[in-house]
Amino acid sequence: MNDAANRIRRKLLFGIMTLPITGLANAAIRTPDASEGPFYPNPGMRFDDIDNDLVIISGRIEQAGGEIVRLKGRVLDRDGKPVESAQVEIWQCDVNGRYLHRGDSGGRSRDNAFQGFGHDVTNADGKFTFRTIKPVPYTSRTPHIHLKVLIAGKEQLTTQLYLADHPGNDGDWLYRRIPQQKRDLVTMHFKKTGQEPLAEIDLVI
Ligand SMILES: [Fe+2]
Repeated sequence: MNDAANRIRRKLLFGIMTLPITGLANAAIRTPDASEGPFYPNPGMRFDDIDNDLVIISGRIEQAGGEIVRLKGRVLDRDGKPVESAQVEIWQCDVNGRYLHRGDSGGRSRDNAFQGFGHDVTNADGKFTFRTIKPVPYTSRTPHIHLKVLIAGKEQLTTQLYLADHPGNDGDWLYRRIPQQKRDLVTMHFKKTGQEPLAEIDLVI
């Protein structure tokens, strides 16, 4: 190979090595979808108060039973960019294991101080926040919080969030369906923050 050919070869190699990898590096893995389950409360089943604090229902004094926690996070697109004005909905059973749903009559009494369903809308940084209770197990399921993301009323994601290291996870038929390497994307790691335990999670739609 002559000098000119060598120079071209070196340039080509250097070019390949310095190709921008931004797209690749920023590409975010979509949050795994999961079943909506049978207890998504339709608007007619909800309290008038559907704000992001599920522990207090407006106009009532008592606070929901259970361990009060905060759940914060961001909604991101597949490029890792924040999504503004996304509606994030959560719903979960109360401390007695009962959902805010007419179809859940499982014999357990309902905690009438628990809102059961709430929503928040993401800000310019894609951030949302909730105050709720740490999920508890019910019937055959490991503890989980159901979650939906909608944009302009159109569903983008329906999933379920789990508690890190909960002993019930490994035996849960829906948790086991999530590929091992994607489980952390739907796992809440609650940390003591001085106030209420806090978990933060990014949702990629
Ligand atoms: Fe559920």
